[in-house]
Amino acid sequence: MNKTKLLLDKEYTVAPLGKRLYSTFVEHLGRCVYEGIYEPGHPSADKDGFREDVRALVRELNFGALRYPGGNFVSGYNWLDGIGPRASRPKRLDYAWCSIEPNEIGIDEFCCYAKSVNSEVMYAVNMGTGSPQDAGYIVEYANFSGGTYYSDLRIKNGYKEPHNIKLWCVGNEMDGPWQICHLDAHDYGKKALETAKIMKWADPSIELCVCGSATSSLPTYPEWDRLVLEYVYDKVDYISLHRYYENQGDELDFLASFHEMNEFIKTVASTADYVKALKRSKKTMMLSFDEWNIWYQAKTQLKQWEFAPHILEDNYSLLDAVSFGALLCTLVNNSDRVRIACLAQMVNVIAPIFTEKGGKAIRQTTFYPFAMAANNCLGTVLKPVGKTPLLKSRSYGDVTAIPNAAVWNEEKREVNIICANISAESQYLELDMRSFGKAVLAEHQVLSGDLSATNTLENPDKVKPKFINCAGAASEKPELTLEPKSFNLIKFKV
Ligand code: AHR
Repeated sequence: MNKTKLLLDKEYTVAPLGKRLYSTFVEHLGRCVYEGIYEPGHPSADKDGFREDVRALVRELNFGALRYPGGNFVSGYNWLDGIGPRASRPKRLDYAWCSIEPNEIGIDEFCCYAKSVNSEVMYAVNMGTGSPQDAGYIVEYANFSGGTYYSDLRIKNGYKEPHNIKLWCVGNEMDGPWQICHLDAHDYGKKALETAKIMKWADPSIELCVCGSATSSLPTYPEWDRLVLEYVYDKVDYISLHRYYENQGDELDFLASFHEMNEFIKTVASTADYVKALKRSKKTMMLSFDEWNIWYQAKTQLKQWEFAPHILEDNYSLLDAVSFGALLCTLVNNSDRVRIACLAQMVNVIAPIFTEKGGKAIRQTTFYPFAMAANNCLGTVLKPVGKTPLLKSRSYGDVTAIPNAAVWNEEKREVNIICANISAESQYLELDMRSFGKAVLAEHQVLSGDLSATNTLENPDKVKPKFINCAGAASEKPELTLEPKSFNLIKFKV
């Protein structure tokens, strides 16, 4: 069995890590909103039509922010359609997903929902068909206390207190040719700058995220990021990254997707730092990885003009969950630059939660690595030192067999480690934790087994973590074993 020695020292840190790294995304797409979080008439629906069974699962994931309302959807969305009395809200064609949008849920209902699950809202404004002026009006509607047209309209609609949305996206994937009213980098850069000025005039306390590359495989990457940042550097706080991975047949390549994510993050950070130098700026641009996940895009087939169509409903395997877990480790390890990351999406649409109309809500395999990290890995990210075994992948060359991340929570006196073993062999881990004194292994959860297994409505608990018996003595050098092709949460009390 391979043996890896890793040193975890409380003085050797990456950055503080907060809830925003464990954010998610709710788009008006497929059955994410309708039949997902909202289904009036469902046995568990509350008085406003939100499903309590789904809400309970959402709470288990302890999300930081909920990005809303899109996605591609937002580039053709008129936010005014989603406010005021429901009976007078228009039904519209959603060009992004060829669906019918009834506008039963809008900014007001969504802000209340986010509050109910202890998350903040990250609101995206329309930079496709929308104008800089519209963006200013939404900020006024959401955040201004009262006495102006839009703030008074919010009050008239029954929301006396402002929603106080702090995080805003200046559009979505405007570099993508698929985007409604897609722009080139110069046109978007100029529009984003003027929009950012108006939005921050309306509320100087907000934080803005500008569209970076929609994926690292577009030919405009990373030039798009440089050009856009040259326009907006002084006015925004984050640049976005989006990336989805899928198993294209080479299992190790798929499990090593985290390698590509890491390169993507480093490249965008370097591009931003180049612009920082060019501008002689003192500000370091932070990154918002506000769409990431496993997504089998090749299988995606749109339906024509249906309400709440069953689209993008990937059913994840255990293999997907292990690859997903390694991506999470990468996000955590880059928390000095990646301050926001949104798992896309939250329910039904490439999501950790899946619902049946009128019936059950279940946890997909990817639910578990996310829950392990979001509920335990908060605090200060540590930089583990040591040599891990390497595997030879076709696309990325040598990659670590055990992608991992460790987080020290001083308040709880805990060190939590999330760790995948992407090799076909068991890996033996020896941890040197002397700087913490003696450490007691308090919890070891493992996702392992049949890599093709999935959770379904008929068999919702086929894949779930098992808890390893942890009775052991306190030690400065605790040891443990990682099963082949597994994902693990390891908790030490120190
Ligand atoms: O999450 C699904 C879609 O992926 C989003 O609408 C879009 O932003 C991205 O291309």
